[in-house]
Amino acid sequence: MNFKFMIGTKALFGKGCIESNKAIFKEFGKKAFIVTGKNSAKASGALGDVVEALKECGIEYSIYDRVLNNPTLENVKEGGDLAREFGADFIVGIGGGSPLDASKAVAVLASNNIDPVDLYKNVFENKPLPIIAIPTTAGTGSEITPYSILTRNDLKTKKSFGNEDTFPAVAFLDARYTESMSYQTTVDTAMDAFTHSLEGYLGRRSTPVSDILAIEAIRIFGECIENLLNNRLDFEVRERLLYMSMLGGMVISHTGTTLIHGLGYSLTYFKDIPHGRANGYLVREYLKYNYEAAGEKIDNVLKLLKMSSIDELGDIIDKLLPCDLTLSKEEMEMYAGLAMQQRSITSNARTVAEEDLREILRKVFNDGGK
Ligand SMILES: [Fe+2]
Repeated sequence: MNFKFMIGTKALFGKGCIESNKAIFKEFGKKAFIVTGKNSAKASGALGDVVEALKECGIEYSIYDRVLNNPTLENVKEGGDLAREFGADFIVGIGGGSPLDASKAVAVLASNNIDPVDLYKNVFENKPLPIIAIPTTAGTGSEITPYSILTRNDLKTKKSFGNEDTFPAVAFLDARYTESMSYQTTVDTAMDAFTHSLEGYLGRRSTPVSDILAIEAIRIFGECIENLLNNRLDFEVRERLLYMSMLGGMVISHTGTTLIHGLGYSLTYFKDIPHGRANGYLVREYLKYNYEAAGEKIDNVLKLLKMSSIDELGDIIDKLLPCDLTLSKEEMEMYAGLAMQQRSITSNARTVAEEDLREILRKVFNDGGK
C-alpha cells in the first residue's frame, strides 16, 4: 500500500449548520467577499443565512453575484479585482459548481494580481484568501475539493486548476439549501456526484481510502435511484444526495476524474449540456469500454447498485436523462481530440487511444448507445 490522504476542508454537515457554527466566520477576518450566481444562493436561503451570520459577527461584506454558468477566466478576473479592491479577508462561495469553482479562482486572484491564465501554473506567490464554501446543489463536491474548473475559451474547453491551498477552509453542508433545485438539476447534479465516485473508484489513481468513500457513495446513489426516477425528493433523500456528493468530492480530491469528465467537457462547451447530464450520457459506454481493465470493480459497482448488468444501469440512466443529441463525424473527431489533451484521460483504467473516444461518442450519440 502506498497512498496519501488529505482533505484540507473542515466539513460542517447538517440542518442549520451555519446558524449553529456562525462564530467560525470571525476566525477569518472582518471583511467577507461573497461569490455567487444570480439566483440559487438567494432562492435556496443560503445567502440570507450567511448575511445574517456575518451581521451578527460584525463582519463587513460585499456581494459579487455575477458568476456565469461555467465561469470564464474573464469572469473570475472581475471577481478577483473587486475582492482585492474591497480588501477582503476571506471569500464565501455560495451556489452550485460554477460559483464554488469561481470562488477558488477569486480567492487566488484577490491575493495575487496575476493574469488569470497563470492560475494554471498552480504555484502562487501569496496564499489564496481562505474560502468558505456552501453548496446549493448536490453534485459537484467542489465544497470539499481543491479544484476550480473554468471555461477556457482560448482552448475551447473546460480546464481545472487547484492545489492544497485551494481547498475551502470550511464547507457548510445543509441539505435545506438544495431543496429549491429543480427536478432536472437535481438529477443532473446527482449524476455528476455518481460519476465522481465511479471514475475515482475505477481510475488508476484510486487508493484504499478513496475506494472506501467511493463504495459508500455508489451504494447511497443506488438507494436513491428509485426516488430520483419517481421525483420523490424529500429532505431525507436530499440529505443523502448531499452526503453522497461530499463523499464524491473527497474521492476525486485524491483520484481526479477520468474518461467521462474528459469527454463530457466538450458536450458542455459546445452543446451547452449541463455538466452532470453530459457525464450521465457517457456512463454506459464508459463501463463497457473499461470492463476489460476494471471488470472486478465494475461488477462490484453493479452489486452495490443492486443491478445485474451494465445495460440495466444504462437503461435507468436513459430514463433519468433522455438524450436526443446526435453528433456529426467532425464533432466527434474534434471532441475526441480535445479530450486527449485532458489530464484526466491518463487516469482512466484502460489506456485510452483517440479512436477509442471517437468510437464511444459514435455509440452514444450516433446510434443512441444501443
Ligand atoms: Fe464533475
